[in-house]
Amino acid sequence: MCGIVGAIRANHNVVDFLTDGLERLEYRGYDSSGIAVSIDGKIKRVRRVGRVALMAQAAKEKNLFGRIGIGHTRWATHGGVTEPNAHPHISGGTVAVVHNGIIENFESERQRLQKIGYVFESQTDTEVIAHSVNHEYLQTGDLFTAVQAACKRFHGAFAIAVVAQDNTENMVVARMGCPLLVAFGEDETFIASDVSAVIAFTRHIAYLEDGDIALLSTKGIEKLIDKDGQVAERKVKISELSLASLELGPYSHFMQKEIHEQPRAIADTAEVFLEGGFEPENFGSNAREVFDDIHSIKILACGTSYYSALTAKYWLESIAKIPTDVEIASEYRYRDVIADPKQMVITISQSGETLDTMEALKYAKSLGHKHSLSICNVMESALPRESELVLYTRAGAEIGVASTKAFTTQLVVLFGLTVTLGKMRGHVSEEQEQHYTEELRQLPGSIQHVLNLEPQITIWAQKFASKQSALFLGRGIHYPIALEGALKLKEITYIHAEAYPAGELKHGPLALVDENMPVVVIAPNDMLLDKVKANMQEVGARGGELFVFTDLDSNFTEDEGVHVIRTPRHVGVLSPIVHTIPVQLLAYHAALARGTDVDKPRNLAKSVTVE
Ligand code: M6R
Repeated sequence: MCGIVGAIRANHNVVDFLTDGLERLEYRGYDSSGIAVSIDGKIKRVRRVGRVALMAQAAKEKNLFGRIGIGHTRWATHGGVTEPNAHPHISGGTVAVVHNGIIENFESERQRLQKIGYVFESQTDTEVIAHSVNHEYLQTGDLFTAVQAACKRFHGAFAIAVVAQDNTENMVVARMGCPLLVAFGEDETFIASDVSAVIAFTRHIAYLEDGDIALLSTKGIEKLIDKDGQVAERKVKISELSLASLELGPYSHFMQKEIHEQPRAIADTAEVFLEGGFEPENFGSNAREVFDDIHSIKILACGTSYYSALTAKYWLESIAKIPTDVEIASEYRYRDVIADPKQMVITISQSGETLDTMEALKYAKSLGHKHSLSICNVMESALPRESELVLYTRAGAEIGVASTKAFTTQLVVLFGLTVTLGKMRGHVSEEQEQHYTEELRQLPGSIQHVLNLEPQITIWAQKFASKQSALFLGRGIHYPIALEGALKLKEITYIHAEAYPAGELKHGPLALVDENMPVVVIAPNDMLLDKVKANMQEVGARGGELFVFTDLDSNFTEDEGVHVIRTPRHVGVLSPIVHTIPVQLLAYHAALARGTDVDKPRNLAKSVTVE
């Protein structure tokens, strides 16, 4: 969602960094952008609705220049997509502010500030920050103290960066619940909400913690106080994120690139178990004690990550024999829950920033769930920091809004967890362990074979491009893959798509089926295959056109209204991972055919940091 950048540079124009950084944050989803610099006793600002490139062009035309500045990509929450609502917000020409997150008590703050005489030009919650900081600044003349005093008034989750008209030396930043990092160059200091914005400039990074307020100069962090008001230091780390993972290379879209990166991403993620064995220590040094202390699992996640959790439930219950509940985080956090200290809470999140998942975890902990594990793709993000145990997927940066390699690598970690717990609980023998190791070793090769089916899937995708709706069916462990297929299709093509367990057809959705309804079936050769075939008959009899993804040995024949694509071999328990690839490719090529914005679908954001 929203993105923040900022810089203080002794020898360079900050505008170059600000526009480059914002372009690198575009993938997170946004609808307007802006930058502001403090120069010659003035704050100069450019804002535009639409792409960052438009705003960057306007900045160029205005010859915007400065040694200190801040920038923002906004994804509208409070107030529409308009230029006055875009950040940075300026108060009295004195201070400029960019902000991620939400100020929950902004209405009462707005009234308070209006009474003092402040006039609001936008509908945003952010403007209360600008006026509030300005009000304090006018009284104290000290930007750090002003931000500190203002932050005390705000409820909610936020990350902010502030510059002042009469100070070209310092910027003040604050973090409470939304990510923010400081990055260190030579005689230059950067800030960003996401490491990808700064990586082309420096790899030396310190992540701020909740409650931190920091005063920055070209030399780095001049002063930092933590949530208790104590002076603190934050460790500088060297980011390992590769610049290549942020570039398109020979691909047309990040989604295409990320689909094709899956053999590599899966191999990198599986390496943890292939090299280190299915051992609890992969999840943290104290994981053995934690896993010994639990009798069940609750998984909390949103969107695609929720579907990986649903898939894992089948593995965890059938292989590790551990009772597993899966819940949508945004629902869990608002219901009365019977907490169980022996139930481990697992959160799954590509970004590690999803607010609903984060709040659900905090809620679970507050209710008495003692143990937590996070499965996440972004190092040092909020969820792993809030969890007792963590295992990172090694998918590399995922830029496309539609999650692909993050999903399949989450499944690899969840499968590794299943075998680990199964072994510890005496349900996985040595022989089975060897078998699972071998399956995992062969998985990247199997995925590559499925990727080679792209030309056939592209032909199918042309047919979907002109449809209004599509139905996805699966049974058992492949039902969550049907859900994932439907989500991918609707996200990037805007075709209405729904997924059902195939056995549910006759309980309602069959009424939708006619010759205009393409029905995708995930039907590998497993114990439910005959049941799925019977369900397909029900569709065929109503004129529905079937598109079946199956494996080599499942004995399907093409027929009038029945199209079949076979994945090269049956991969046993890992079949859901392999069958994810065709539904990703189907959605991608249907979106291409419809001409939608594949990587930045309308109304969506990569990191959902608001409720
Ligand atoms: O970063 P997270 O995995 O927590 O994100 C959860 C969902 O917002 C995300 O999976 C979303 O559904 C994707 N756009 C799906 O492609």
